[in-house]
Amino acid sequence: MRYRPSDRLQRLPAYLFAEFERKRVAFEKQGRDIVNLGIGDPDQPPPKLLIDAMIATLNVPGVHQYSPSQGIEEFRAAVRAFMKRRYDVGLDPKEVCLGVGSKELIAHMPLALTNPGDVVLVPEPGYPPYRSGAIFASCEPYVMPLRRSAGFLPDLDAVPADIANRARILYVNYPNNPTGATATREFYAKCVDFAARHGTLVVSDEAYAELYYDEAPPSLLQTPGAKEVGVAVHSMTKTYSMAGWRVAWVCGHEQVVETMRAFKANVDSGQFMGFQKAVAEVLREGAGDMQSIREMYRRRRDAFVEGCRGLGWDVPSPRAGLYVWFEVPKRGMTSMAFAEAVLEQANVIMLPGAGFGQAAEGFMRVALTVGEERLREAVARLARLKL
Ligand SMILES: Cc1ncc(COP(=O)(O)O)c(C=O)c1O
Repeated sequence: MRYRPSDRLQRLPAYLFAEFERKRVAFEKQGRDIVNLGIGDPDQPPPKLLIDAMIATLNVPGVHQYSPSQGIEEFRAAVRAFMKRRYDVGLDPKEVCLGVGSKELIAHMPLALTNPGDVVLVPEPGYPPYRSGAIFASCEPYVMPLRRSAGFLPDLDAVPADIANRARILYVNYPNNPTGATATREFYAKCVDFAARHGTLVVSDEAYAELYYDEAPPSLLQTPGAKEVGVAVHSMTKTYSMAGWRVAWVCGHEQVVETMRAFKANVDSGQFMGFQKAVAEVLREGAGDMQSIREMYRRRRDAFVEGCRGLGWDVPSPRAGLYVWFEVPKRGMTSMAFAEAVLEQANVIMLPGAGFGQAAEGFMRVALTVGEERLREAVARLARLKL
């Protein structure tokens, strides 16, 4: 064939979740009622304030033209006010850059900030773009396993010295997808120390920062010295159920933020200014509805976790995030075999840990992105499984 995917693209691991999506569509066409606990796509409408602000901005003259890649000043000022209010982190205007969603920021960072052959430290299980971004940039992804016994925090001391010295980026993600773990301030201090010793950049993916069930989780940027070695990536997607809007930001280390801006000036032309203005309003006004959104996810979490415990399964209750992460309840069964049995017999989609990397084999992920009643329905069907 004359045209084929690039070698880089071919080096990416198979996208297991696409297969479940394909089956879902096929089964629904057959009339089967599928409870989809697969993808983490929030099902709630965004806040009314946002929609109203968006409608109002559509008529503002000038918003339909190109905008700067780093985001308009009004958006960045609102981000700075939010970071100050939420974390007491002061940011200069040059320390904030807009993202067209956080996925693009994360996936582009190695291209903007590393050279071929550099090492990128990726947690496993972990959000796939940490690894794919590293592969696209011809870097070497080095896997840091997240183990339940260690609170799903990576063991930085276990990274061999030669790898650590070549590591240009360290990705950390708390609240964590998929494990639901949160980070301690001590852990972030270790990351900062590691980065300072090895000349690494810490990229803290804080996409789930507002979805917590206990106390509000900290940001990397609250750690003394963090701004000298790190950036935080935030997104509006999960917080305000805005997956389709594609608005996020990276903030922290000034040179890194400036590098991202310079890189992005070559690959995108900002985000629609109307979005940015509406998002700025929500960030400025504060998160009025957040408490009720958190309560809604808490009820869903409890319905699923308690239901599964009633089946005798060992299902830990996540501290934060959108997911429940638990060990395959049948000893010796692979996560893929369990996911297939659950889909075939119970018409429920859960994602197998294997799709999050080898270190995640033996686990399952459930997204709390359907209503409480549907979660109870899923548990009732799981009770009838024959394994
Ligand atoms: C850990 C993590 N980071 C970032 C994202 C990306 O979110 P977005 O690109 O919508 O901002 C996701 C989405 O699932 C995620 O799970």
